[in-house]
Amino acid sequence: MRAPLKGLILSGGKGTRLRPITHTSAKQLVPVANTPVLFYGIRAMAEAGIHEIGIIIAPETGEEIRAAAGDGERFGVRLTYIVQDQPAGLAHAVLTAEPFLRDSPFVMYLGDNLLQGGIADLVQAFDRDEPDALILLTPVPDPEHYGVAELHDGSVVRLVEKPAQPQTDLALVGVYMFRASIHAAARAIEPSARGELEITDAIQRLVDVGRRVEPHIVRGWWKDTGRLEDMLAANRLVLDTIEPSVQGELVDSQVDGRVVIEPGARLERSTVRGPAVVGAGARLTDCYIGPYTAIGEGCVIRNAEVEHSILLSGSIVHDLAGRMESSLLGRNVRIGRDTRQPRAYRFLVGDNSEIAIL
Ligand code: DAU
Repeated sequence: MRAPLKGLILSGGKGTRLRPITHTSAKQLVPVANTPVLFYGIRAMAEAGIHEIGIIIAPETGEEIRAAAGDGERFGVRLTYIVQDQPAGLAHAVLTAEPFLRDSPFVMYLGDNLLQGGIADLVQAFDRDEPDALILLTPVPDPEHYGVAELHDGSVVRLVEKPAQPQTDLALVGVYMFRASIHAAARAIEPSARGELEITDAIQRLVDVGRRVEPHIVRGWWKDTGRLEDMLAANRLVLDTIEPSVQGELVDSQVDGRVVIEPGARLERSTVRGPAVVGAGARLTDCYIGPYTAIGEGCVIRNAEVEHSILLSGSIVHDLAGRMESSLLGRNVRIGRDTRQPRAYRFLVGDNSEIAIL
């Protein structure tokens, strides 16, 4: 009998591009439609029948990830946490996980990636065709930010990590399938210019030694949620697919379209126009929530308009003269009009924050 497929989710790393949110929180836990990005990967694996999943964590943010995902029981999987002592690259993460993976074939999923349509079909193709690696590719407008693949007659000939002058627009999507041959390949490579053991180079190594690397072009959407605009885009794509359900309390309020109001949320004299989700225990009074907004648990919005934004739990927005849009607020952020004298703007803002005022 063939060894069952294992899963490996990479949730270590630094998350510099979403600072300041990721100063205090793991980037894989930033919510998309009120669900941490990481959970979409775990669910995709569970749906594909993968039940043994290793999660790579960093020493700094690992505890938070453990607390959020737990032992995996609620996803129907078993999670094993594997600490990577430093973010030395995706191939380094694979080597760190070797004692967990042993000689099993596995699916590797980058914890900040979102892939529409799950991975069940890919797992089937990997089982059926038995390549050494199956890589997912998709055309992107900015290939220089990704691993880039060159194909010849449908076969992979070259893979380059973030090339200054990309030869194609085919980006490597952060979901890969490997057999145990990847370990030797990861051991054979040197750190890249950015000082990391790149999985892209390890796959190139497989190609160089004559192993079979199969490309698969992704048809649905895919998002790497590393930057604000990607987070907002992922939020839009997922909100477009939610099933409407109103479980909170509506007082002189209305909801239009694809809207989820979680239990314990209360709306008074407010309108929510979907697609949007309002988290458990949120309080919305005299406000308008526009399309593509995800309001986190326990947020308070009063006398304000919010659209195309993500608010993490416990944030407060009140008495705004203009509409807030395309924004990402961390946890327990407060934004509002201040009536104290002398009249002035007053801020208490973390490093690398961005504020645009009217
Ligand atoms: O998103 C797809 C891209 O992901 C691919 O096109 C690239 O070829 C691939 O190298 C990767 O590029 P990024 O620069 O976006 O990778 P990032 O550093 O953001 O790390 C991806 C995930 O892996 C993230 O959840 C953090 C985690 N990670 C990262 C490193 C470097 C680890 O767990 N350990 C690490 O050492």
